[in-house]
Amino acid sequence: MPNINIGLSDEQLQGVIELLNRNLADFYLLLIKTKKYHWDVIGPQFRTLHELWEEQYEALTINIDETAERVRTLGGYPVGTAEGFLQLSSINEHPKDLPSANEMVARLVQDHEQIIRNLRKNIDQCADDYHDQGTADFLTGLMEQHEEMAWMLRSFLEGEKLTPSGERPGAETKPKVSV
Ligand SMILES: [Fe+2]
Repeated sequence: MPNINIGLSDEQLQGVIELLNRNLADFYLLLIKTKKYHWDVIGPQFRTLHELWEEQYEALTINIDETAERVRTLGGYPVGTAEGFLQLSSINEHPKDLPSANEMVARLVQDHEQIIRNLRKNIDQCADDYHDQGTADFLTGLMEQHEEMAWMLRSFLEGEKLTPSGERPGAETKPKVSV
């Protein structure tokens, strides 16, 4: 550990570096998966999904770089091998599989939600256990981005269930609308 005197102990720095690397692995696997679906998707929504996933993997690419550079900022080294990413990631891959467009969207929603749950826990750990408000703030920004990406994908699936009158079958109450 290099001599970094920013009010965090070596143990605190190590703890933060480790959780940053786990998130880095998840972001990388999600990047690969988003890109693969961008290539593979077919059907009437091809253009919408192809373009949405391009936007999302570009955002993920930026976040991956910033996460890796935050690891360096704290004196650690980011994971940078495919093997390392696979070992640390909590995202499942589905090799030799060509799902429908809706199934692709549903899988990505699950992955974003998994990442959001991890980040929410890690933000508390950073602030409470490791006394690192900087990383807590950094991860909060990333969590908000994943929440927005998950919403865009979730909305796509919810739209599939709409009846021609615009109501959602099975919904007990209509969504609240401000007037
Ligand atoms: Fe492309």
